[in-house]
Amino acid sequence: MPQPTSKFRLSLLLFQFIALIALAQFAVSSLYAQSHPNPKDLLRQMTVEEKVAQLSQLPGFPIPEFLQQAGNPEDIIRKYGAGSVLWVPEPKQINRLQHIAVDESPHHVPILFGLDVIHGYHTIFPSPIAMASSWDPQLVESAQAVAAREARAGGIAWTFAPMLDIARDARWGRMVEGAGEDPYLGAAIARAQVLGFQGTQLGAPDKVLACAKHFAGYGAADGGRDYDSSYIPEEQMWNTYLVPFKAAADAGVGSFMSAYMDLNDVPASGNRWLLHDVLRDAWKYNGFVVSDASAVHSLITHGFARDGQDAAMKAFSAGLNMDMASGTYFKYLTAEVKAGHIPMKEIDDAVLPILETKIRLGLFEHPYVDEARIPDVLNNPQSQELARTAVQRSVVLLRNEQNALPLNKAQIKSIAVIGPLADAESDVLDMWGAMTKPGPTVSILQGIKNKVGDTVQVEFAHGPNIRRDIPSFFENIPFVPIKEQPKQSPEEKQKAMDDAVDLAKKSDVAIVVLGEIALMSGEAASRSSLKLSGGQEELLEAVVATGKPVVLVLVNGRPLDISWASEHVPAILETWYSGSQAGNGIADILFGDANPAGHLPVSWPHNSAELPLYYNHTLTQAPEDAPGFTSRYWDALSTPLYPFGFGLSYTTFNYDNLQVNRKEAKVGSTLDVAVDVANTGSRAGDAVVQLYIHQRAGSASRPVRQLKGFQRVNLQPGAKQTIHFKLGPDELQYWSPALKKWIVEPEAFDVWAGDNAQAKLHTEFSLTQ
Ligand code: BGC
Repeated sequence: MPQPTSKFRLSLLLFQFIALIALAQFAVSSLYAQSHPNPKDLLRQMTVEEKVAQLSQLPGFPIPEFLQQAGNPEDIIRKYGAGSVLWVPEPKQINRLQHIAVDESPHHVPILFGLDVIHGYHTIFPSPIAMASSWDPQLVESAQAVAAREARAGGIAWTFAPMLDIARDARWGRMVEGAGEDPYLGAAIARAQVLGFQGTQLGAPDKVLACAKHFAGYGAADGGRDYDSSYIPEEQMWNTYLVPFKAAADAGVGSFMSAYMDLNDVPASGNRWLLHDVLRDAWKYNGFVVSDASAVHSLITHGFARDGQDAAMKAFSAGLNMDMASGTYFKYLTAEVKAGHIPMKEIDDAVLPILETKIRLGLFEHPYVDEARIPDVLNNPQSQELARTAVQRSVVLLRNEQNALPLNKAQIKSIAVIGPLADAESDVLDMWGAMTKPGPTVSILQGIKNKVGDTVQVEFAHGPNIRRDIPSFFENIPFVPIKEQPKQSPEEKQKAMDDAVDLAKKSDVAIVVLGEIALMSGEAASRSSLKLSGGQEELLEAVVATGKPVVLVLVNGRPLDISWASEHVPAILETWYSGSQAGNGIADILFGDANPAGHLPVSWPHNSAELPLYYNHTLTQAPEDAPGFTSRYWDALSTPLYPFGFGLSYTTFNYDNLQVNRKEAKVGSTLDVAVDVANTGSRAGDAVVQLYIHQRAGSASRPVRQLKGFQRVNLQPGAKQTIHFKLGPDELQYWSPALKKWIVEPEAFDVWAGDNAQAKLHTEFSLTQ
């Protein structure tokens, strides 16, 4: 018998190898097909009505009349399925609706349940503006990972977060939901949130689908009035407002939410430039876009769409995949397809990412909530510990004359805790935190009591009640648990004020907790003045007049007018809304068990007349500090009371030896910037080292300063560390309005390093062609 040649043997081996791989692939794909359908096959089998149902998010709560015309949500699910259902926080109800979709709808496509898990689900972390004040992306990621784990255990696979709107006008109520005014910090926090919610890959266990919202420009609402139009030139869109969204897209965020407002006169939810040209064309984004609540229907109210049919067509052709709770897609899109106005291919293209997302999230294999697992996940003590750490790391010490803080409990016999927010529980959770499934909350009063124990007498006086002048619409929604404080007569207010002052007089120290109840910030909560409202300013001044040491603790969603306090109250602590562990974390700071290191993610104005206010404006022909003609007001300052990036510590830091590794480099190079930071005080603390640059000339005027790096570092007393930053094309480029593209220009650059946007330590370098 002739022996096979070695060539023949090699071919045989190769053939066997290929056959083995093909077999393995077949086995894997049939296994896969058993649990995941192929989305394209599914699309071939689905009717147009079913596809349109996938493009619809049904409201899981009582709905206005125009929505009811679209049909009863349960019947829709049974007959056609549903892309998503909004705001069903009850796991039992989730399972019930999911069974209808999986068992009874024609193609058994599970529902994606969506909820606003913004800064926690059960364990509520500090509000987003507070988390941004930590300048600690790792903390932000860990907190959102807890939120994701808890939400997923409760059946929520989709959160409408992170909110990435740059906000530079504190009158706008939703500043509290974002990371402040700066695109660089905003992008870092955006990335961290996406990773926390989703992990590095969609579908990781205990993770949820994130949603980058509100795309885009919502924070620039005219006059800071919520929902009002935004007028943003293209260069500001690219260089500022879109930056955190791009970072989220790059981090793999699985969905986007289009904003409510008109952007340059075209509503964001019908804005093809945003949803198509930027998102799909420029960024090659392949996730899906949901509208904000009812925003498709609102295209009619905007005066942009003639009627529901026109609204559905305009939103769909702009690139919006899913209609949040307005029923407009559901009501009109099927007929538009049947009439030949929308090719089936376009509908399929819009549905495909939604089906793919459900598959990747594992909803086909695990559509139901395991109710038995919920208590274990929610009651994890480590989550509460992390929430407490988050409070400690996010509060900002704004003033501390003669080391008024920390308080020494060994030297204090009695504390007066005063103010309308001192005993608040749902208010410190903020609106979104109070609306999910929050666990117990530690009020600031309770946190102080926990801290000092029985050795110090702690008494409380509420002071006058505070209310909005015009009530919030949210108060009328039955499942919104936050409320206004009751109305008081002038006599009742006066009595509350007198009681508080009397208490201060007989105590060793007064901790005065003032600010805004939760309904005073957030959505539909814009205000014209930033004053401490409802008699709080008078209360503060009266308590200070007693001569007792006073600590002002602020609970609020935006910078407030504390001009008087900034000169007369020795210690001021900004805590924002700090969540479930508010009281414990704040008490840790007040009594020195933690050292504050939060830094402001917004410029803090003196008052609302200065708004909008942001550090990274252009130089102008007459900068504020120039001699002679200047761009400032003649009756007031136009610089902030506290600059962007500002925050004090119980220790002190010194910055020195700022170096760029090359004084001259070619465009395209990456430079290394180094700066030394030393702890010059007597206790350990965190420094937030910030790097700013300024391009001196170019094809466009460049901002006076731009943040281009930061690092939070812990230093023991006396310790010194050299911090390194990279300045490469990503940091040095900008979108030039003159050239209509991203460029790095051969110009001279200033560099500053320090602990806020007014840092003085300076060096420079030049880029050459
Ligand atoms: C808000 C969104 C939110 C949505 C769903 C809207 O009113 O603008 O931020 O995600 O409701 O609750």
